[in-house]
Amino acid sequence: MPHLDQRLKIVARQVRCGTHADIGSDHGHLLKALLASGRIERGIAIENKVQPYANSQATLAGFNAEVRLADGLAGLASGEADCLSICGMGGESIVRILDAYPDRVPDTAIFQPNRKPELVRAWALRSQYNLVDETIAHGHWRYVILRFERPGNRQQTHEDPAYDGLDRDAALLFGPHQLRHRTSEFLTALREEQAYLTSLNRLGEEAANRLAVITRILAE
Ligand SMILES: C[S@@+](CC[C@H](N)C(=O)[O-])C[C@H]1O[C@@H](n2cnc3c(N)ncnc32)[C@H](O)[C@@H]1O
Repeated sequence: MPHLDQRLKIVARQVRCGTHADIGSDHGHLLKALLASGRIERGIAIENKVQPYANSQATLAGFNAEVRLADGLAGLASGEADCLSICGMGGESIVRILDAYPDRVPDTAIFQPNRKPELVRAWALRSQYNLVDETIAHGHWRYVILRFERPGNRQQTHEDPAYDGLDRDAALLFGPHQLRHRTSEFLTALREEQAYLTSLNRLGEEAANRLAVITRILAE
């Protein structure tokens, strides 16, 4: 069994389906662990670079998996996978991949953005997915793992219940479930970021907005 760091272990625990596609599979360890543990029946690894593609092929040899050299969802047909993961990329890249072929995103999707998770949460709101789970993994950084489900009874105006009654800017930036549960770990992370941002001489617009939102959350 390949070693998964805490981040990918949390992602793996969120997956149980027939066919799972992993975009940016790199070493291929996530799909190998999912196949070896029986959490999925078939895996599709998608890579857009030659060496990671070769690494995925080597890791997944002998498993019920296909490794494809393609740019994101260009390598997946609509309806081919039941579940999708994209891990270890920035929020901008994840959203670029999703927006390129919106009809190819399965009903269950798990993302681990290295930064700017708010872009992924905003994508889900405009694409009619509900954010059903938000888990923090501690590794090199503090990572958030987001699991989305597309509800069966989609309406013209979609409202994700996870955001009900919450400050929308704060929930997009820091996560509606995090905001609702206000764990001591979450509040400590906010206090640390607040202290860091306050110590800086000048803040750009984005950092100033984060500081204002953090201050609002901590004042509640
Ligand atoms: C930092 S690695 C993360 C690997 C693994 N998912 C993880 O979380 O440990 C990102 C991988 O995504 C791949 N990648 C980036 N953009 C991609 C795209 N548009 N389509 C497919 N793969 C992509 C890169 O080649 C790289 O192997």
